[in-house]
Amino acid sequence: MKIRKAVIPVAGLGTRFLPATKTVPKELLPIIDIPSIQYVVQEAVDAGIQEIIFVTGRGKDGIEDHFDEAPELEQILADRGQTATVDMLRRIAEMTEVVSVRQKKPLGLGHAVLCARDLVGDEPFAVMLADDLIDAETPGIRQLVEIFTETEESVVALMKVPREEVHQYGVIKGTEVKPRLYAVEGTVEKPAAKEAPSQLAIIGRYVLRPEIFSILQNLPPGRGGEIQLTDGLARLVQQRKIFGCEFTGERYDIGDKFGFVRATVAYALKRKDLKDKLVEYLKSLKD
Ligand code: G1P
Repeated sequence: MKIRKAVIPVAGLGTRFLPATKTVPKELLPIIDIPSIQYVVQEAVDAGIQEIIFVTGRGKDGIEDHFDEAPELEQILADRGQTATVDMLRRIAEMTEVVSVRQKKPLGLGHAVLCARDLVGDEPFAVMLADDLIDAETPGIRQLVEIFTETEESVVALMKVPREEVHQYGVIKGTEVKPRLYAVEGTVEKPAAKEAPSQLAIIGRYVLRPEIFSILQNLPPGRGGEIQLTDGLARLVQQRKIFGCEFTGERYDIGDKFGFVRATVAYALKRKDLKDKLVEYLKSLKD
C-alpha cells in the first residue's frame, strides 16, 4: 500500500528559541533563506507523499500560508520583472496539498498524531518531526517508505547515539535482521542511561500502520505527563511487527541551538552562492 500522507506536528511553542519564537513559529525560522519546515515538506514530496497534514496550534497560521499562493506579492514581483522569484514562490505553493487540524492542548506527541486520525483515515501514513532535518542521498522518510513497501509493517528511523544522550530520545530494544534493519521488540521513551535497552535512538521519522490510532486513543499519559508516541509503539509491537531503519545520511537536531547552527553551516556549505565565502571566513577564524 502506498504512503500518501505525512503528519507533521507543529503545535509546539518553541520556547527554546524565544524570543525569536514569540511571534514567529519555530518551523518558519530559516536555515539561510528557506524556512526549516520547507526542507521537511520537500523530503516528504521527494518520497512520493502527496498530502501534508499539519497538526497546528495558536499562532501557527504562517506555516500554512507559506505553502499557499501569495497573489499580491507575486504581482508586485512580476511588475518589477523578478520572474525567477515569482516562479520560486509558485513552486512552493504547488509543492503539495496541505491540510491542517488543531491540537488544542499540548498533551504530547502521541496526542498530536491522534489529532490527525480523521484526516489520515484507515491507511498507513508517515509522521515527520520538524525538529529533525535529514540530509541524505535517499530522503530519510523514503528509506522508511521502502521498508514499509516490502514489509507492510510500521517502521521507525534509528540512529546510534552515545549512552549519555539516550535520555533525550525514544530508545528501542531490537535485533538486527539485516544490515541497518532491526526487528523492534520494545520501545521506551527517554530512559535513564543505565535503564536504556540499547543505544538505538528513534529519530523523528515514522511510517505507521493505522492501528496506532486506537492504541493512542486509550493510552495513559507517560513521561512528562504527556501521551507519548513511543509508548504507543511499545503497545503496537505487541500486536504487529515494527521495523527500525538505521537510516543513512546526516541528521540535524534543529530544536537545539547548536544543532540549528550546525545545520545552517552545513547547508550553506552545500550552496554554490555561499560555499567559497563561508570556507574562507571559517578559515580566517582559525588564524
Ligand atoms: C521526540 C520523541 C522521541 C524521539 C525524538 C526524536 O522527542 O518523543 O521519542 O526520540 O522526538 O527527535 P522530543 O525531541 O520532541 O522531546
